Amino acid sequence: MILNIYAKVKGFGMTADGSAADLVASLKGYLEELRESGVDGLPWAVQEKAGRKIEAGSDAAVTAAAMPADEGESLGRIRADLGECQRCSLGKSRTNLVFGVGNPGARILFVGEAPGRDEDLQGEPFVGEAGQILNRIITRMGMKREDVYICNVLKCRPPGNRNPEPAEIEQCGPFLLRQVRAIAPEIIVALGTFAAQTLLGTKAPISKLRGTFHDYHGIPLMPTFHPSFLLHNKKDTGKFWDVWDDMVKVLGKLDMPVPDVKRKE
Ligand code: URA
Repeated sequence: MILNIYAKVKGFGMTADGSAADLVASLKGYLEELRESGVDGLPWAVQEKAGRKIEAGSDAAVTAAAMPADEGESLGRIRADLGECQRCSLGKSRTNLVFGVGNPGARILFVGEAPGRDEDLQGEPFVGEAGQILNRIITRMGMKREDVYICNVLKCRPPGNRNPEPAEIEQCGPFLLRQVRAIAPEIIVALGTFAAQTLLGTKAPISKLRGTFHDYHGIPLMPTFHPSFLLHNKKDTGKFWDVWDDMVKVLGKLDMPVPDVKRKE
């Protein structure tokens, strides 16, 4: 977008040694051209519409500007664009593409790693044992599964639940970003190491990432432990409470009531 504006401004006559007045005139010309061609807002309009004020020049404005603006984005259109996706080799081995489920206007978006066996068979994220745990977390938060939106970084199951490969992430990533822009959640919860590290572009362990808000394209992102991790460490109840503490922070940030959950000593 920034390069695009630069190229357009040059096209309007801005020279390398041009004055500030030239620049303003060129930008004005470009913005008028945009308006005439039907563009009535700049990229961060999507987030401002969702109630988040983004200050011009802030990090959020810069990252939002880096995303192509499209207020007409919808989950239906993104799903249609994915089609019978064969962009990576997972297209051959999957049973169903698992796009996502929930409220398209959700305040909270949960992002997991990739579909497992049950999800691959049913075409819906988090419907297996890990899904039952996620459902319990959502219920404890005072919501229903239908209130939030749930999806994964990868839309297709890696064979044998192996770790996602970089080429697969590269192909699927833009569709997740489009889902985020369409839903415009107020908070993203990244479930587990893989989702957190991928969305935040870091190799830091989940134990270090969880518990504080990070930034994903201007949206607060809370990493927490993956429901499967809780499932495989059932005896470590402290991990359950860590997740609950993270969710309390999420509810607090959204000004939502925090249900009173008693901890057994
Ligand atoms: N684990 C995930 O990360 N996603 C699912 O949909 C199911 C299990």
